[in-house]
Amino acid sequence: KRHLISAADLTRDDAVLILDTAEELARIADRPIKKLPTLRGRTVVNLFFEDSTRTRISFEAAAKRLSADVINFSAKGSSVSKGESLKDTALTLEAMGADAVVIRHHDSGAPHRLATSGWIGGSVVNAGDGTHEHPTQALLDAFTMRRHLTSGTGQDLAGRRITIVGDILHSRVARSNVHLLSTLGAEVTLVAPPTLVPFAVESWPCEVSYDLDAVIGKSDAVMMLRVQRERMNAAFFPTEREYARRYGLDGERMARMPEHAIVMHPGPMNRGMEITAEVADSPRCTAVEQVANGVSIRMAVLYLLLGGNEPAVATTRTATE
Ligand code: CP
Repeated sequence: KRHLISAADLTRDDAVLILDTAEELARIADRPIKKLPTLRGRTVVNLFFEDSTRTRISFEAAAKRLSADVINFSAKGSSVSKGESLKDTALTLEAMGADAVVIRHHDSGAPHRLATSGWIGGSVVNAGDGTHEHPTQALLDAFTMRRHLTSGTGQDLAGRRITIVGDILHSRVARSNVHLLSTLGAEVTLVAPPTLVPFAVESWPCEVSYDLDAVIGKSDAVMMLRVQRERMNAAFFPTEREYARRYGLDGERMARMPEHAIVMHPGPMNRGMEITAEVADSPRCTAVEQVANGVSIRMAVLYLLLGGNEPAVATTRTATE
């Protein structure tokens, strides 16, 4: 595949290959020299029209660990504020010789438009588009689940019960996770207030519940989502106190999870809203680990899109020689 636009496009074999490649590449994080020469001479552009901390930094770290040249573009402070279009921005990047464009955009479908327009010749990676998808987030989430809930490399998540809680309506993370996790064999349940469940959910491969307490005791992982106040009409939202009481994760609820189960959060977190500080800082919460795993996943994605024919294992061996 030349682009990564949607988790729904990945087959089980594609997903397991990315997860296994990320496991190989994660090993270099433990070495004194963390860089591989794989993408030397290639240029990766981070094209961010929306704010980001984790995704942007980890794509930059991933590209640099593979020795690529990195250009960071932020719409704030660029000619986008003077009205320059996505097309003219893309043509400018093409003129700079971008081999891959990592794009985050407030409009659902912008990465697909970039990949199919012919404006650029390189690979396009979706780093989050509107309320549509965030495929590398789902991959790093699956990587984290696989490390905690299976015996590791080569495995999928067959039979694992994953509960995703919160603002499903506005969440590209939820949509990507539903598609990827079901491809990997997991059973996904979404939990949210009725006003924060999209109509399209009926066609998604998952269950829906409005009662967190009914499902939390049989979950292998509970993923809490940020309430995206900036994207919603206040009229459709319960009070913060009511939301936290019914859909938030506090220490008492966490204690009802199975002993092996983990708490996940893609970040950024609204502490005190969907998750208490006690839970966010507990050893069961993998939020910081997810960020670290994101670098390995993004290295794997860039490597598989741009890295040529050599297997990652061979590349890793070269680095140790
Ligand atoms: N999880 C996530 O996408 O975080 P950022 O918005 O900080 O990139």
